[in-house]
Amino acid sequence: MIIAIDGTLASGKGTIARRLSAWYGLAHMDTGRLYRATGVAALNKNVDFDDPDALADVARTLDLNDYSEEELRTAEAGQAASKVAAVPDVRAALLELQRAFANQAGGAVLDGRDIGTVVCPEADVKLWVDASVEVRATRRWKELTEKGETLSLQEMIAQLKERDDRDKNRADAPMIAAADSVLIDTTHLTIDAAVDKARAAVDTVIAQTSERSEP
Ligand code: DC
Repeated sequence: MIIAIDGTLASGKGTIARRLSAWYGLAHMDTGRLYRATGVAALNKNVDFDDPDALADVARTLDLNDYSEEELRTAEAGQAASKVAAVPDVRAALLELQRAFANQAGGAVLDGRDIGTVVCPEADVKLWVDASVEVRATRRWKELTEKGETLSLQEMIAQLKERDDRDKNRADAPMIAAADSVLIDTTHLTIDAAVDKARAAVDTVIAQTSERSEP
């Protein structure tokens, strides 16, 4: 079984993906890490962000083991990720990696922005996770200020809007809900309630599949 989870930044999609992966015993890939690592590698190597060929080279030679979770979670890494993610050759370089992961024996959960539309259009379950920009910015701002980053909530809202716009409006694999995805709006939901909704969507598909395979 392949579960594709897409959605906006700080919508809760990562937590939902981790919880579903544990519940159903499926491998999990946070595909944003690939873009974050590419962005951080490009920053470290002083690569010109206006040079798509150089950025694609960084993506092709990426070793995820080179980066700590801490390094990848900064606001700067997020901004760099969103920029490299708009480069078609970067996306192409990271695509096969994601598809191979998705198609492993036993199935997988992948979360990102284009999993249900581009990476795994054949996924068994597709979820689209979203929340209001104010709620998402507050969540991410708390996370970052707890880690010692100093930015105001207003700056966080502005950054989030800028990243949403870039992710939505890029020409290649823009962030968009797949037509056959189930919406989970987490604006007023606790994480447990959001995970319950996600599990209900997966269980519906499992029940339909077993009905179809009964003699
Ligand atoms: O989910 P995240 O914040 O870790 O993602 C970082 C950036 O990577 C985000 O701005 C959009 C991009 N991304 C993408 O374009 N496609 C994906 N499948 C995952 C992330």
